[in-house]
Amino acid sequence: MSSLQSFVAVSTSSANDLRHLFRLNSQKAPPGTQPYLPRISCCFVSEDTQKSAPSISTGNRLLSAKSEDLIEREKRVLVGTYARAPVVLVRGKGCKLYDVDGMEYVDMTAGIAVNSLGYGDGEWVKAVAEQAKSLAHVSNVYYSEPQVILAEHLVECSFADRVFFTNSGTEANEAAIKFARKFQRVSCDSDTHATEFVSFSNSFHGRTMGALALTSKENYRLPFEPVMPGVKFVKYGDIDGAKKAIVSGKTAAVFVEPIQGEGGIHSATKEFLQTLRIACDDAGALLIFDEVQCGLGRTGYLWAHEPYGIVPDIMTLAKPLAGGLPIGVALTTEKVASAINYGDHGSTFAGSPLVCHAALTVLKRIKDPGFLSAVTKKGLYFKELLTHKLGANSHVKEVRGLGLIVGIDLDVLASPLVDACRALGLLVLTAGKGNVVRLVPPLIISEEELKQAADIIERCLPALDADGVH
Ligand SMILES: Cc1ncc(COP(=O)(O)O)c(C=O)c1O
Repeated sequence: MSSLQSFVAVSTSSANDLRHLFRLNSQKAPPGTQPYLPRISCCFVSEDTQKSAPSISTGNRLLSAKSEDLIEREKRVLVGTYARAPVVLVRGKGCKLYDVDGMEYVDMTAGIAVNSLGYGDGEWVKAVAEQAKSLAHVSNVYYSEPQVILAEHLVECSFADRVFFTNSGTEANEAAIKFARKFQRVSCDSDTHATEFVSFSNSFHGRTMGALALTSKENYRLPFEPVMPGVKFVKYGDIDGAKKAIVSGKTAAVFVEPIQGEGGIHSATKEFLQTLRIACDDAGALLIFDEVQCGLGRTGYLWAHEPYGIVPDIMTLAKPLAGGLPIGVALTTEKVASAINYGDHGSTFAGSPLVCHAALTVLKRIKDPGFLSAVTKKGLYFKELLTHKLGANSHVKEVRGLGLIVGIDLDVLASPLVDACRALGLLVLTAGKGNVVRLVPPLIISEEELKQAADIIERCLPALDADGVH
């Protein structure tokens, strides 16, 4: 197949959409100059030569007038915190997203591990619509049934005895920080109770001042110092380093992701988590698992810590729980919860009937054993496929992960590959130091869609060679 044929074949746009596909209708002439003549230039590469002759063009993509307009308006009125890809998304269905020009994308990002049921799931839409009609929000000054039902379900299917709802992952971690501090204050007789935290290299726990203090990446943290003091960073997986860092009377809690997402898809070993559990117990510190990204079915287990057989004192969740509505949770044991009093923490929006009713739909679907075993099966299939298709490329160091949280570790920056994939209708993320392609699709994705994704990644690999980007 020629590269032009294959480019067209990955898009489901009709032939009439080629102008969109090639972004031709966007060409605006600068004032006072001749209008550009829309032009397709392409390079036919035969099957035989395709592997050695990179054919993916990633630079100078032309945007449609609609996209360009919105991107320019965004730049004028939003605080510039996001280095966004130049795509204006308007619609989603299943595991596909559509941009303002009608271009279809296979979505391997799921809103960064959020949209586990994909887009437009019938049951979820019905739950949201029903609840929105009856009662969307009430203050936590009053009781509401969906919040209690969701809490009952979370307690029933986890180690936890109690839950505290928030609106995001970072807030769930802030709650966990406060609960750990309060627990130490209450359980220690002396005035000088443990207030410090241990966190790990490559960790990501959020952007608010406490969670940020626990986040290892200096680029995120240093511009905002002083952040919460008293955080020691240890190399992820360093058993001896962790044992030394966890100190009785000093360490209030240890924060760890059983599988690191943002940090580059690194899985903890059983020995590492076991060591943390024992060291925390010996020191009277709490063990906190941040499962904001890796929890809730992403690994093929409901909880990422499940296959390790090690239980935390607190676990934080967020991203996928409400199917795209904002939510976070800190789940705790009774031992920790008993240290918390009325007024110690709270939130205006957290645990609203609307969000909790939507979350109940998601949780019931995800915790189904059939759903989880399908994630495991698809994850194995996908990793094998990627290893088979990409393994021989000199830039690919490793394909790793568990279930449908998969990383392709490269010896170069991943962004040219990410851009090339997008041009061919595949959305993927980066992680680590920008050298890892992160694949966290909706958990409902089919094997056929996973194959489509693997094919496009394989086809775009030449973009990683400097001369493949033109
Ligand atoms: C492990 C982990 N913890 C916390 C967060 C922060 O969550 P949020 O962006 O919802 O505040 C993230 C976000 O990516 C995460 O991956």
